[in-house]
Amino acid sequence: MTRVIIGDEIGANETRPVKSVGVIGGTGIAELEGLAPAATHSPDTPFGAPSGPIHEGLLAGHRVYFLQRHGSPAVIPPHLVNYRANLWAMQSLGVNEIVAINAVGGISPAMQPGRLVIPDQLIDYTWGREHTFDDGSDGQLRHVDFTEPYDRALRTALLAAAADAGIACESTAVYGAVQGPRLETAAEIRRMAADGCDVVGMTGMPEAALARELGIAYASVCMVVNLAAGLGDLPISMAMMREILQREAGVVGKLLRSLLARHGP
Ligand code: HPA
Repeated sequence: MTRVIIGDEIGANETRPVKSVGVIGGTGIAELEGLAPAATHSPDTPFGAPSGPIHEGLLAGHRVYFLQRHGSPAVIPPHLVNYRANLWAMQSLGVNEIVAINAVGGISPAMQPGRLVIPDQLIDYTWGREHTFDDGSDGQLRHVDFTEPYDRALRTALLAAAADAGIACESTAVYGAVQGPRLETAAEIRRMAADGCDVVGMTGMPEAALARELGIAYASVCMVVNLAAGLGDLPISMAMMREILQREAGVVGKLLRSLLARHGP
């Protein structure tokens, strides 16, 4: 595979000896189950304030930093999340590994409601979001490598953690990141299916790319909460999504604890 690197490459997938783990929660994940809170941080950043306080605590004996990307209460819509502030704030606290939790609609047949998915690729359909830290002001031209948008080592660890915990999940998927906040038309979903998307969500980008720019290992755990537009018999409702999220939230917590257990003491 050819890797085109122009200027200084930032954020490649090197192995990092000390892991300081951040979790960015999505729709329906108001708090991290089992997190024993030790401190709350509200760092300011050059890009403004993050979505809300970052809760530091211990989960399975590991220090974890948790941020709800939609705020608390969770009212910030996907296109207005300050992704740059969120990622910058996490890094300012020393976080170098982030597990993002994302609710998604299922497009391909295996992606049924309730399914857990660790995507390995994405297609970005979002627009108008602040999507980079790079404004050229430091006199450097950078093109970050994004061939593999999710950190390979972290994805592998998540899949192993799922196997350890007996949690079934899809080990590959293409995440289609859409602008929202409205849901898609049936024709948009047909186009995304033709493009190769397996799931659709509104928050996967620019979060993944910003993490890469900062050199933070980043992977996503997606929970399918509905069949994408035009694929189910019922209209898509928030109530339907919440019901699945409430039912499956425990699985996400179990996966995270299993991941941290693999990280060792
Ligand atoms: N489309 C976009 N984003 C979503 C969906 C969907 O169907 N479900 C959950 N997040």
